[in-house]
Amino acid sequence: MTEFILNHRPVRSNAAPGTALLDVIRYQEHLPGTKIGCREGDCGACTVLVGTLREDRVEYRSMTSCLLAMANVHGKHIVTVEGLTDELPHGAGVERLNPVQQAMVDQGATQCGICTPGFVVSLAGCSLSPEPVTKELAVRAMDGNICRCTGYKSIERAAEAVAGQLAGKDEQDPVEWAVAHGFVPGYFKGIAERLKHIAKQATVVNPAASVLGGGTDLYVQKHDAMLHAAIHPLADDPALKGIRLEGGQCIIGGGTVAGELLDSKELRGFFPNLENQLLLVSSTPIRNMGTVAGNFVNASPIGDLTAIFIALDSTITLSTGTGRGNGHGRSLKLKDLYLGYKQLDKSPEEIVTSVRFKVPGKGTRFHFEKVSKRTYLDIANVNSAIRLEVDGDVIREAHASGGGVAATPKYLANTSAFLAGKELVPTSIREAIAVMNDEIAPISDVRGTADYKRLLLRQLFFAHFLELFPERFKLKELA
Ligand SMILES: Cc1cc2nc3c(=O)[nH]c(=O)nc-3n(C[C@H](O)[C@H](O)[C@H](O)COP(=O)(O)OP(=O)(O)OC[C@H]3O[C@@H](n4cnc5c(N)ncnc54)[C@H](O)[C@@H]3O)c2cc1C
Ligand code: FES
Ligand code: FES
Repeated sequence: MTEFILNHRPVRSNAAPGTALLDVIRYQEHLPGTKIGCREGDCGACTVLVGTLREDRVEYRSMTSCLLAMANVHGKHIVTVEGLTDELPHGAGVERLNPVQQAMVDQGATQCGICTPGFVVSLAGCSLSPEPVTKELAVRAMDGNICRCTGYKSIERAAEAVAGQLAGKDEQDPVEWAVAHGFVPGYFKGIAERLKHIAKQATVVNPAASVLGGGTDLYVQKHDAMLHAAIHPLADDPALKGIRLEGGQCIIGGGTVAGELLDSKELRGFFPNLENQLLLVSSTPIRNMGTVAGNFVNASPIGDLTAIFIALDSTITLSTGTGRGNGHGRSLKLKDLYLGYKQLDKSPEEIVTSVRFKVPGKGTRFHFEKVSKRTYLDIANVNSAIRLEVDGDVIREAHASGGGVAATPKYLANTSAFLAGKELVPTSIREAIAVMNDEIAPISDVRGTADYKRLLLRQLFFAHFLELFPERFKLKELA
């Protein structure tokens, strides 16, 4: 039994835990405002806000309901477009439009309307955010929403108008402010208290069950099989959450989502360009769902988080059994998890509870690069990350990764070893690229020919050094 609050209504649903929330919303709860587009997380037509109780507050994040399993919905507040306005009695419509809807109307930002509820929900989420909202952030909130007929300029203007109205938002208590200013109805004020009364579900350990993080890979790859699968949900397991510093290590719970990495003040402090780099990973709603462990275990050779954490020389912790903390169990370098295409040094019962890496020091430099057909919301043709420990003119230690150039996410072991002890001069980089070419084995496929991928990785490798040491390197000296 999944218990949650859908807009203002409590719901107890018997839908199988693998059912996509989208289907429950539309076909069991009869709320057709949430639309079906791609069913693969790509279009945003099905976007809902998911409220999670954090002590006395509810934190709202946008998610795509087509990939959201009912197993991950228990104890949540789910907000669809219908829940953003006060309904008149007897199905007589709504009293007035929400300011976001009004801005879309004023700017002529809708035509056929199939995408509009998704845009409205994503944008309305800004009013509930504890961060200040600029026009850029309002536009960013819609980076998972695609419109095929209106054109984006009018939607951007609507976002700008909304951001203007949110300028005075109270970041201490965004829900109170959003209610007072008509962005969400009054019932939002009681949600935190109501969520506290939903009992947690007991974890039933079933070794045959599919381990589920955010579902953003599983529901794309095997949507139908998931519907009837036994599920072991981990998205809300507190033992797999959080980012902490301990004994010179940064330890990140396996259930941490990419959006939480992006929001982390610690990580942003360590890696000043992390925000721009993580924005290249999927989209806001997918980053709000997809976990680091899911990225590692999915074992895609072009997984972005995998490339990043391999280059950070990270260690993962694998654990069986319940009640595990995110630091206890068998340790393994992330780079050694991959034995062959989608073959892992991991038993089916083992769960990735955490990933950890050495806290960067004064001489640490880190960079991530990705090439894809579209800049945003696209998987990589080739990606690469590098971590260097630099002492004056010398590279003391190097760890580099390359995605899309082998059957597995690739730790560039020989290239990394070659760079250690080398001077930071163009010859070192050119020679390292020769080493790199000998240790990769790209194949030709829909994302490019083998030669093209070799060329891309070389360019990304140059980009690491051009970005990290602009005062030392010029492209014409490297190429
Ligand atoms: C529209 C869209 C865009 C995307 N764009 C990108 C992109 O730009 N870059 C990118 O790298 N990826 C991208 N992805 C892929 C996906 O979002 C990521 O790989 C994400 O990190 C997967 O995490 P998850 O929690 O959703 O995994 P799930 O789908 O829940 O699980 C994936 C696999 O991991 C296993 N698993 C999950 N958690 C654990 C755990 N703790 N321990 C052991 N096994 C576990 C599952 O059993 C399953 O085998 C995209 C996906 C979508 C739908
Ligand atoms: S239907 Fe396209 S993202 Fe869900
Ligand atoms: S209004 Fe038709 S797809 Fe956006």
